[in-house]
Formats: sequence, C-alpha cells, structure tokens
Amino acid sequence: MNSLEIVEIVNNEKISDNMYYMGFKSRVIADKGQPGQFVHIKVPDNSSLLLRRPFSINHIDKDREIVYIAYQIIGEGTLILSKLHGGDMLDILGPLGRGFSMEEGIDRVAIIGGGCGIAPLRYIPSYWPKASYTAFLGYRTRTSIYQLKDFENICSRVWFTTDDGSAGEGGFVTDVFKRELDKIRPQLIMACGPIDMLKQVQHIANEKEIACQISLEERMGCGIGACMVCSCAIKVKEGFEYQKVCSDGPVFPSDEVILDENHKLSC
Ligand SMILES: Cc1cc2nc3c(=O)[nH]c(=O)nc-3n(C[C@H](O)[C@H](O)[C@H](O)COP(=O)(O)OP(=O)(O)OC[C@H]3O[C@@H](n4cnc5c(N)ncnc54)[C@H](O)[C@@H]3O)c2cc1C
Ligand code: FES
Repeated sequence: MNSLEIVEIVNNEKISDNMYYMGFKSRVIADKGQPGQFVHIKVPDNSSLLLRRPFSINHIDKDREIVYIAYQIIGEGTLILSKLHGGDMLDILGPLGRGFSMEEGIDRVAIIGGGCGIAPLRYIPSYWPKASYTAFLGYRTRTSIYQLKDFENICSRVWFTTDDGSAGEGGFVTDVFKRELDKIRPQLIMACGPIDMLKQVQHIANEKEIACQISLEERMGCGIGACMVCSCAIKVKEGFEYQKVCSDGPVFPSDEVILDENHKLSC
C-alpha cells in the first residue's frame, strides 16, 4: 500500500563531493517502507520537469517517523532537490516497488554496492538485525566516500575501495569480494550499483551457487506499473519476457535478470 503525500523536509545536507542526504517526515512510509523500495518525488517549482524522480529508501527512523534518501546530483531535478531546506515541502509517492527480502535462517549476508548504488543497501542490516553482514563498498575517489561509518556501525566487517586508490584499497570492489568470498561464505548476496559491477556479482553468484538479489535502475515514468517505460528482461522458460522495474522490482533474483538486455541506466 503506498500513499501520495505532501511531506516536510527535516534535513538536506551534502555528505560527499556529489551526494546529498535528505530526511522527510512521513508516518506511512516510515511504517511500511522496506529496504530496496523507493519513493517517487515530484521536483518542486519547475513545471518543465513533469516526471517524478525515483530514490531508494536509505534509512528510516521509525520512532521519529523520518524517511531518508541519499542522492547524487545527476541533472536538473536532483540539482533543484539539493537546494531545498528543512521546513520546505515535497510531493512524494511511496513506498513503491518490491525491495530486498530475507528468508528465516539466513545468518551470513554480503552486501555489495557501488557509487550511489550504496544508498539502497544501508537500511538492510537494521531492518533484518539477526543476520551478520559483511559490506563491500566501491567509491570513485576519497572525496566521494559517504556513509562508510554508518556501515561500519551496523556490519561485522566493511571492505571499501576507491577507483583511484586514494582511500581504502584501489580497484574494483568485486575483486575484493572475490578474494574474501571463501572466508565469509555468505548464504545471500544483496547488491546495487553500476551495470558492470552487477554483471560481475551475478557471475560470481552463479559460479558459487549463492542466492543473490540485485537492485536495478531504469528511467521511470509513472513508477507504479502503468506505462512500461522501465522494462527489463527477465528469464522465463521459453526465453525471456519484459517486466517492470518499478513494480516487479527494482530488486530481482540475479539469476533471473538478463543484464545485457537491460543496460540503459545505472549510477
Ligand atoms: C528505483 C530507483 C532508485 C533510485 N535510487 C537512487 C538513489 O537512492 N540515489 C541516487 O542518487 N539515485 C537514485 N536513482 C537515480 C535517480 O532517480 C536519478 O539520478 C534521477 O532521477 C535523475 O534526475 P535528474 O532530474 O537530476 O536528472 P535527469 O535530468 O533526469 O537526467 C540527467 C542525465 O542523467 C541521466 N540519468 C537519469 N536518470 C539516471 C539514472 N537512474 N542513472 C543514470 N543516469 C541517469 C539521464 O539520461 C540524463 O542524461 C534511482 C533510480 C531508480 C530507478
Ligand atoms: S515507470 Fe511506468 S511502468 Fe514502470
């Protein structure tokens, strides 16, 4: 069940060279929102930006009924959002989509994120606190690092990389994941990030036969399954069919997704 609401922004601050962290009050989304689900935000004060912009739930403070997103400035919509302040109002639809899921009995989880794809993963450990988490986080450079401390506070171990080696280990986060895999023996992998990173994760999960869920990104229109703008290819018995990232996903079992057919957008 989702709701369309006008909500009050509580904070909106810069947290790295290109990422912002925004919190807004919403009883419904704070109550119902799950990791991997998203909210669809109408960009205020700009009649030319008609389409809402989707952002994953980054964190929820249930006691204070505050929902947080972490977002990167990409174009005009996110630039406008970055200039809003506490006390400003936003038109929001959510929570939307099918998020991550966790079966009973899972104790060891690996979470793998790259760039703004790290944002949808942060709420997982506090939402399912019984499991133990190892996080693998890939950033572009030292100044792009965000929420590393938050992951360190909620995960048993955090590995992080930067593309240029300016902090953490240099290189691809998936290489560190591959190296550590046999030691941590995850029963479940949850991942979000650039398409090449997801392909690597999908390949590793297939090879090692580990259950894996990946969160996809597509350009979106309605966000509620009505327009087909966000289709992605999913394996079925007779080949593949198109499903909707906004309502069938954005999180899918990685062994069902055909990433080559999909790669239109990713952060
Ligand atoms: C389900 C879902 C969850 C998302 N969660 C987050 C999140 O938690 N944090 C976050 O920072 N972003 C997230 N995004 C991406 C975010 O929605 C876009 O960055 C945003 O809509 C861009 O709006 P804009 O008006 O600033 O840019 P636009 O003017 O719409 O686009 C500017 C340029 O960026 C490209 N672009 C647009 N959208 C994307 C995209 N999704 N990926 C890559 N390039 C894009 C456009 O093609 C265009 O060239 C998510 C997207 C989806 C579908
Ligand atoms: S955005 Fe309209 S169907 Fe997904």
